Amino acid sequence: CGITGYIGYRNAYPIIINGLKRLEYRGYDSAGVMLFDGTNINVAKTKGKVSDLEERVAEQIIADGNIGIGHTRWATHGVPNDVNSHPHISASGELVIVHNGIIENYDSIKKELQTRGYVFKSDTDTEVLVNLIEEIKKKNKVKLGQAVQIALNQVVGAYAIAVFDRNKPDEMVVARLGSPIAIGVGKEFQEYFVASDASPFIEYTKDAIYLEDEEMAIIKKGRKVHVRKIKDDSFVDPQIHELKLNLEQIEKGGYDHFMLKEIHEQPRAIIDTFRGRLLRSEGIIKMSGVEDNMKKLLNADRIIIAACGTSWHAGLVAEYIFEEFARIPVEVEYASEFRYRNPVISEKDVLIAISQSGETADTLAAIKLAKSKGAFVFGVCNVVGSSIARETDAGAYTHAGPEIGVASTKAFTTQITVLALMALRLARAKGTMSSSKYRLYLQEIELIPAKIERLLKVDEKVKEIAEIYQHVPNCLYLGRGFNFPVALEGALKLKEISYIHAEGYPAAEMKHGPIALIDENMPVIVIATDSEHYEKIVSNIQEIKSRKGKIIAIVTEGDHVVKNLADHVIEIPYVEEAFSPLLTTIPLQLLSYHIAVMRGCNVDQPRNLAKSVTVE
Ligand code: G6P
Repeated sequence: CGITGYIGYRNAYPIIINGLKRLEYRGYDSAGVMLFDGTNINVAKTKGKVSDLEERVAEQIIADGNIGIGHTRWATHGVPNDVNSHPHISASGELVIVHNGIIENYDSIKKELQTRGYVFKSDTDTEVLVNLIEEIKKKNKVKLGQAVQIALNQVVGAYAIAVFDRNKPDEMVVARLGSPIAIGVGKEFQEYFVASDASPFIEYTKDAIYLEDEEMAIIKKGRKVHVRKIKDDSFVDPQIHELKLNLEQIEKGGYDHFMLKEIHEQPRAIIDTFRGRLLRSEGIIKMSGVEDNMKKLLNADRIIIAACGTSWHAGLVAEYIFEEFARIPVEVEYASEFRYRNPVISEKDVLIAISQSGETADTLAAIKLAKSKGAFVFGVCNVVGSSIARETDAGAYTHAGPEIGVASTKAFTTQITVLALMALRLARAKGTMSSSKYRLYLQEIELIPAKIERLLKVDEKVKEIAEIYQHVPNCLYLGRGFNFPVALEGALKLKEISYIHAEGYPAAEMKHGPIALIDENMPVIVIATDSEHYEKIVSNIQEIKSRKGKIIAIVTEGDHVVKNLADHVIEIPYVEEAFSPLLTTIPLQLLSYHIAVMRGCNVDQPRNLAKSVTVE
């Protein structure tokens, strides 16, 4: 979910609504806004997108007032409908809240409040929280800030909240635990912006305060922000960060969709990932997070990689690369399984957490668990200053720039890039790679952006293939070795944005099950690029062909064998096998993109998904 807020001298409505549009990637099954016009609290909310909210506002309320809060939701408690949408108002009508996250003990609090006469309109945990704050405010006769603090000490769960009290209309109380909050500070404190990330307010101010977990802030027009620890009420001196983000970076720049823009940004994004790290003229890789912790990394008994979704797939590619280059045993874990399994972790383990957003709740929990067992934790994140970036002992940013499309593309390839650089650096330090091979790999990895640039020209061809297969109900993706995870990622991309059922499989496993599915209606996408397993994959292609499956093969330029067997081929430039996922994944991104567009799906905001999953 995403939240926005404004207090100041401007009309709050356009700031809030435009901010919600920028945050919509975080969740978009309902949206709402509250505006205070000096006398009345006006609330509009609706199931659907921020654009639906705009229509609702036009029909329903006067979009007036210099203070307001807004929300775009990804449902956790209660179906997405108008009533369950945020903001939620307390029983007296005086307090208004927007909330990201989950209050786990909401049910017992709700029952308690019901015995005191509170009646609830929605099924949400949020409505319980706002009434708990109200009850405390009344019973303890305290101000809003104190009431929020007492309430938060009673709840279990995760939250980012913004609360407004009509009795204190120049104030807003915000708090965070597990879900981010950024506060934009206006000139001479004459206005303040609140949001889940800084993107909603970058055209107004470059000064931002990021709340840490278990911190709350009282924001009042005309004075400095007061930040306190929720638990012990101690005072925090907030640091003001200067934002580097610019508006162009978060707009579509001429592409029809963010996803397409982000696919095309990959050469540039990877160059940014290299910057300052790949110093080929000197023949070295320099990554400060690695250099500063070299001993710990080299002494590791094993590396555990924890991540979710596409980042987990990047972890699988990294497993192959680390083991091949640096000869360190690697295990790749779904963060959500790892954290609940009572895993065996020791001080000699290194955990690498991979996360685009740096906010994924399960990944964050995996980090905390590993840290508590004494493991060294290294983060690979895209969002600077995110929770995971702060929680880890060291790390490396991917520097892909903001990724807005929910289906991850450039984050994936830059994650692999960072991890490949790290594996090369460790291989050199460990002596598991000869210097000639090391030099060759440095040279090869540096050529990747130019090769992707060239490869992106297959777009038209991929579009033709998409045209043919856009109506299929199922699709199989196969790959081996370094490209097995790419098969998983290709299938995930198709599933998430086009709603076609797709499965990724290690090609050799096909004969243990999925082969039963193959008939003349089943398209099978096979990654059959130049590799150690080339002959084997050719056999797999034969097996598909003899069962009349339709073969779409990704091959290396100059291939003849597979070309004669497959129904369609997409060629990629020659590349060292270890880096081939950086190329083979590109046509698969384009394929799912075009199919989704042809099927009329909302590419950037697929149904039921969210970009940043801060719930467990
Ligand atoms: C969500 C997104 C995926 C992403 C996953 C992990 O499910 O829709 O695209 O891969 O979360 O997110 P992270 O930010 O941790 O990489």
